[in-house]
Amino acid sequence: MTIAAKVLDTLADRLVVPGYSKLGYALRRRSWDPLPPDALRGKRVLVTGANSGLGKATAAQLAALGATVHLVVRNVDKGAAAREEVARRTPGAELHVDRCDVSSPASVREFAEAFLAEHDTVDAIIHNAGVLPPERTETEDGNELTLATHVLGPFLLTGLLLPALRRAESGRVVFVSSGGMYAQKLEIDDPQYRAGTYKGASAYARTKRMQVVLAQLWGRRLSGDGIAVHAMHPGWAATPGVTDSLPGFAKIMGPLLRTPEQGVDTAVWLVASDEAGRESGRFWQDRAMRPAHYLPFTREQASDRDRLWKFCAERTGFTP
Ligand SMILES: NC(=O)c1ccc[n+]([C@@H]2O[C@H](COP(=O)([O-])OP(=O)(O)OC[C@H]3O[C@@H](n4cnc5c(N)ncnc54)[C@H](OP(=O)(O)O)[C@@H]3O)[C@@H](O)[C@H]2O)c1
Repeated sequence: MTIAAKVLDTLADRLVVPGYSKLGYALRRRSWDPLPPDALRGKRVLVTGANSGLGKATAAQLAALGATVHLVVRNVDKGAAAREEVARRTPGAELHVDRCDVSSPASVREFAEAFLAEHDTVDAIIHNAGVLPPERTETEDGNELTLATHVLGPFLLTGLLLPALRRAESGRVVFVSSGGMYAQKLEIDDPQYRAGTYKGASAYARTKRMQVVLAQLWGRRLSGDGIAVHAMHPGWAATPGVTDSLPGFAKIMGPLLRTPEQGVDTAVWLVASDEAGRESGRFWQDRAMRPAHYLPFTREQASDRDRLWKFCAERTGFTP
């Protein structure tokens, strides 16, 4: 990238709207090298929440690069419909639909056990499944829903699949976070969002912050295993998640929203590129590392990060 392009890229990121919308994508993609068409041939990749929006677009791009893709979904009928769609776009792709409700530790354990019984290796896991509930909701296990879906489920799934990830040549784990996390600090005193008035958007952003911290923590722990762990944010993309959960935002931003394909480019690149394998624990957007913080009050202490790790281990009953 030239110096002028770097300056423009950083400016777009700091001004938010240009960087997160399709303008940022159009500006940045000019300096990207295309991934080799067979970049993921022979690789097995899991995508959670792959029946809709960004997850489905991710599955399609991975398949187009030759990967065997597992669409990990809570509703297998929707998963089968997504598989048909991906198969039409990439005839001959090897696609599996696996049932897993990532907000349920029992379901995650059941899925991981079945997966490990069938497969020795997983090359990458993309933690994409996401929710933005209007009201505070608890799962059967007593966990607040965004926490269960974005944090506890991915923590447990990563941990349970470690034996298979370790067998990969260059294992990757990607958390699909959100730029909304920039407004939140790591909320470790009240991770279940019991205090104060619940706001879905705040719960969402708090748990997206936790994903960025978890990527750092896993990244450090797994660096000796040759596994790279990253978080990324897709910018703002037109998906059912955005149009249903944030109709006002989708209406105002409509013409500027990215396509799902543009939104997932970086998640796919983090799995497929050699460059992303040389780093770990980073936060990315549009194939570039981004700061984890812009606002000073969002910075956490190392002791808070340790508390998050312990909390996840306690709530999932899994100590890596
Ligand atoms: N679109 C954006 O602009 C944007 C921006 C920032 C971050 N993101 C992140 O990108 C990810 C995908 O969002 P999207 O916009 O594509 O939304 P979406 O269209 O609503 O897709 C969300 C997917 O997650 C699945 N899911 C939710 N809870 C699940 C669970 N417990 N177990 C398994 N799957 C579950 C949904 O399955 P069902 O169909 O069964 O509900 C759906 O397939 C999310 O993590 C979101 O936070 C999106």
